[in-house]
Amino acid sequence: MQNFDYQTPTRLIFGEGVISNLPDVMKPIGRKILLTYGGGSIKKIGLYDKVKELLTDFDIYELSDIQPNPKYDPSVLDGVRICKENNIDVILAVGGGSVLDCSKAIAAGALYEGDTWDLISGKAFAKAALPIVDVLTLAATGSEYDCGGVISRTETNDKIGYMDSHLFPVCSILDPTYTFTVSKKQTAAGCADAMNHVMEQYFTEDTTLLNDGFCEAELKSLMYNTIAALLDPNDYRARAELMLCCTYGCNGILALGNSPSGWPCHGIEHALSAYYDITHGEGLAIITPRWMKHILNDKTLPRFVKYGVNVFNIDDTLDEYEIAQRAIDETYNFFESIGIPMHLRDVGIDESRIDEMAHHIAVNEGLENAYAPLTEKDIADIIRASL
Ligand code: NZQ
Ligand code: ZN
Repeated sequence: MQNFDYQTPTRLIFGEGVISNLPDVMKPIGRKILLTYGGGSIKKIGLYDKVKELLTDFDIYELSDIQPNPKYDPSVLDGVRICKENNIDVILAVGGGSVLDCSKAIAAGALYEGDTWDLISGKAFAKAALPIVDVLTLAATGSEYDCGGVISRTETNDKIGYMDSHLFPVCSILDPTYTFTVSKKQTAAGCADAMNHVMEQYFTEDTTLLNDGFCEAELKSLMYNTIAALLDPNDYRARAELMLCCTYGCNGILALGNSPSGWPCHGIEHALSAYYDITHGEGLAIITPRWMKHILNDKTLPRFVKYGVNVFNIDDTLDEYEIAQRAIDETYNFFESIGIPMHLRDVGIDESRIDEMAHHIAVNEGLENAYAPLTEKDIADIIRASL
């Protein structure tokens, strides 16, 4: 078991109706709020009006239209400018992972003199950030409980994930009823994202029985509850369990004491969505089974056997390679069964830029140090196999 140093300072307030806590959460933090949100879903579900009604005693500035795969220009730059011009005290992010991630970059950029991209690209490190509170509307990324953010810069085909301990939300307000309106496509993509977060932590060298158990339970819960939520989008129990699974999925708690894995599928997918602006969870679902197939060998076999037996109940008396192959097939079949397009061509990606993307990934993601090391050629082969 590896040494670790771990802290998650985020307060979670969970359950139906917990939005009523918002004024009390905000009061000690500040009066001047930058309210950030996406393309309008929070207005459709009445959440925008609810937030405004609850916060009548506060000064609210707004940044809207934050897109999926949030963009540095204009969203982050506009948000930083509003914060600096108006001495904003706190950012209130209302939406999915894209709104939260964009808000994190703004929070750090608002208290930084230089170019905010320095902080995202790792050229400089933030010394402080504005506090962030969020109201989550989509279960997927776990951004509500981690200090990471992912920002895209279209002109350079960059989509950079970075972590900064100043960026843990102060408080995340998690009401599963706000996810009832999430489309089938985004529900499935959110499930695939969270499942992959778990797999990125499960498929590694040194693990513990405890972590393996957490991960296996997460995967089973995500699959079971996604099917239930797709059948009945208003199934509170399913939406609630999905939300909590996703919240736990990405802040490292599932891998305390494990050796690092390199998060290879995320490294590959971030380039796919940087070049083609695809939905993150769909890209992951397409890549994951091909990555699994590519890295299956005598060294990785025992992890696949454990995964197959404990997550998919595959008969443990079968030949080990047979179990591993079935586990990979089950993974593919599950993603397909929840409606995810399972080929890159289905999401608009063709051969033309594979080598360029593989080079970009090899240079920027360092996957030769992953649990199953990947060279530039390996990366290109995995993407090609996903076409
Ligand atoms: O823009 P609006 O109108 O709000 O619509 C959004 C958007 O079109 C919609 N939506 C959100 N809540 C809804 C809803 N529609 C109906 N009802 C609701 N209640 O869903 C669409 C997608 O939203 P988005 O925020 O982009 O999705 P998600 O939460 O999956 O976030 C994806 C982003 O997070 C990054 C991804 O790379 C991607 O950029 N990630 C962030 C991570 C982190 N911070 O830790 C880790 C992840 O691995 C991931 O990379
Ligand atoms: Zn992800």
